[in-house]
Amino acid sequence: MIYSGESLSVTKADNGVAHLVFDRKSESVNKFDRLTVDELAAALDKLDDEPGVTGLIISSAKGVFVVGADIGEFVEVFKESADKIAGHLLPHSDNLCRLEKLGYPVVVAINGFALGGGLEICLAGDVRVASELAAVGLPETGLGIIPGWGGTVRMPRIVGVQTSLEWVTSGRPQKAKAALDAGVIDFLVPADELMSKAEAVMADCQSGALDFKAARAKKETTDAEIVAEANSIGDEWTANITGKFGTHYPAQGFALRSVLQGLEKTLDEALEIERQHFVDATLTDQAKALVGNFLSDQYLMKCAKDRAKTVTTPATCAGVLGAGIMGGGIAYQSALTGTPAIMKDIAQEGLDLGMGEASKLLSRLIKKGRMTEEKKAAVLASITPILEYDGSFKKVDVLVEAVVENIKVKHAVLTDVETRMSPSAIICSNTSTLPISDLAEPLERPAQFCGMHFFNPVHAMPLVEVIRGEKTSEDTINRAVAYALSLKKKPVVVNDCPGFLVNRLLFAYFAGFMRLVYDGADYEVVDKVMEEWGWPMGPAYLSDVVGLDTMQHCDDVLAAAYVGRLKKDFKAWYQVVLDMGGLGQKNGKGFYSYAVVDGRRSRVVNAEVRSRITELARPARDFTESEIIERIMVPMAIEMAFALEDDIVASPEEGDVALLYGVGFPQFRGGVARWMDAVGLQAFCNMADKYTDELGPLYEVTARQREMAANNETYYG
Ligand SMILES: NC(=O)c1ccc[n+]([C@@H]2O[C@H](COP(=O)([O-])OP(=O)(O)OC[C@H]3O[C@@H](n4cnc5c(N)ncnc54)[C@H](O)[C@@H]3O)[C@@H](O)[C@H]2O)c1
Repeated sequence: MIYSGESLSVTKADNGVAHLVFDRKSESVNKFDRLTVDELAAALDKLDDEPGVTGLIISSAKGVFVVGADIGEFVEVFKESADKIAGHLLPHSDNLCRLEKLGYPVVVAINGFALGGGLEICLAGDVRVASELAAVGLPETGLGIIPGWGGTVRMPRIVGVQTSLEWVTSGRPQKAKAALDAGVIDFLVPADELMSKAEAVMADCQSGALDFKAARAKKETTDAEIVAEANSIGDEWTANITGKFGTHYPAQGFALRSVLQGLEKTLDEALEIERQHFVDATLTDQAKALVGNFLSDQYLMKCAKDRAKTVTTPATCAGVLGAGIMGGGIAYQSALTGTPAIMKDIAQEGLDLGMGEASKLLSRLIKKGRMTEEKKAAVLASITPILEYDGSFKKVDVLVEAVVENIKVKHAVLTDVETRMSPSAIICSNTSTLPISDLAEPLERPAQFCGMHFFNPVHAMPLVEVIRGEKTSEDTINRAVAYALSLKKKPVVVNDCPGFLVNRLLFAYFAGFMRLVYDGADYEVVDKVMEEWGWPMGPAYLSDVVGLDTMQHCDDVLAAAYVGRLKKDFKAWYQVVLDMGGLGQKNGKGFYSYAVVDGRRSRVVNAEVRSRITELARPARDFTESEIIERIMVPMAIEMAFALEDDIVASPEEGDVALLYGVGFPQFRGGVARWMDAVGLQAFCNMADKYTDELGPLYEVTARQREMAANNETYYG
């Protein structure tokens, strides 16, 4: 044994070849945290002192190779000065340069995921051998940062500029075969031949059959051909990346510049350029938000998995009441992910629609090569559509009710189905507005009842709010969370209140929008400003997509529940459009008119609606972009403060993730609590205070927010 640590060990075989094996003790994956970086340096010291070493093979004893840097450590690094951030990169950068200076060949055997720093160490090796199960990539730009350990420097010298720019700006991991075709790896073998191939490649390097020194030299300076390639495609790439990612996602631009600017430099100079771009990317708010999103998602999923672990009998059969837009989607998702579903409706038409939609979605997967005809038939066969109860609901472990949004109908349906199910089963409602505690009132077993609020379309939207009513037991919540996880969804547990978390926040946002238009803003202008701010759709367009009847219904419920903040003294614009026969996108008429022209969807402002609104609203006037943004975002942000203070949601992390997954909140802003942190709590209070005299309680910050501002506190600590 040459070296033995917590993360890696080095041994020497009889033939003089040393084996460096990553195998982090008591963790499921290998990663480059400070400990691993320090251990790698110590292992290299030992190797330097070891006589008779003739080569080095680097491999992993886990299912993955190395998944990258420890993102959790980044959060601390982000708080440091530019010099310290650069300093954080240096020890590992040195490790990789030392590998390239060893007096013998270095072969890397890649068995699984080699991502970020995991791929960067492979690029520092001389020859890369991968198993068919491997996947490699540089995903850093997805986190708002760039590779910092030579990824943008070594990759172009090995495979050229086009491939490198594609890999670093997309951040997409690639399967081993694609990596072989791109030249990122040199050999691809079946998993069980990986180590024997690595040994054979090592022997070839030692005998001179493979010129490992040439591979090293290639990284020291860039080939003239590659420089010429950069000259021919660099400008076009720069224009494309600027156009596509703009200022919202600056990391892609930093990564591109790092690739291009390092080409005609020595390796050390290029690494220095990369470090500078890394630091600049790291210091952006976007990087903080995107890394924050990643960590919040991990936290959310850990909470959910901890709950699911307590469930001793996972659901083996689901029931769905109502085969409409939502019920059909839930039954489909359940069947697709392995839990058969019995789907009941009162209308054959509803059942046909639900099954038809499921069939269409499965066919789409077949087209994409992600499903076979046999699997499609099996998934469809695991949805049982019924019109009458036939005793089969006794088998159901978890039921999701998705009938019309009417408390009388829901009470009737829920009390009836409860008598037809096993006493141990749980019942969930997919209501979007009705309080769970009210729905539970007539039930025999209210402890076994909770909300499971899915988003439309169910198969595409990751979020599920799991809602705890007054009488809901923790076991019921845990079982609903476990079912949501089995559906491959992201469950956020919230307490009961009108609108729960997401719609409560969303309708505060819409209240800001309604009033802005009432005060004379043009809704098309507002949509443009909010889309430029980062929302996938502006508020008028989003209302059309959701459906104006649904919007009006939710608005009525929430305005009645939060009278002080959400009640308007003018008619909501959804109702105005509904009165003109517009339902939104579903009937082609809403704030916009929708049509399909030459197979392409078109959207233009509905001139009649615009002119009707102009008649009813105050005189038209221009608002600045910041006024528009503030008047719409401040109410949502204050509602988040209330939701946290009222314990509707347990943490800013969960609240923000719910907005990212539920309503498409701009990823690079990281959620509304994180946005308040980026603005600064004192600046946020000042921003809101400008509007309270004119616009009232919708813009009144909470007492706790003022206290946070005074104490310089933030939501994310
Ligand atoms: N559509 C959305 O965007 C959305 C999003 C989240 C939650 N929700 C909620 O989901 C629920 C369903 O909404 P939807 O949009 O799917 O409605 P929908 O009108 O598309 O479907 C409702 C279905 O329920 C059936 N139904 C009515 N009474 C029934 C009964 N007694 N037993 C069995 N089936 C019955 C109807 O025939 C219809 O097929 C509502 O509570 C709604 O608030 C809807």
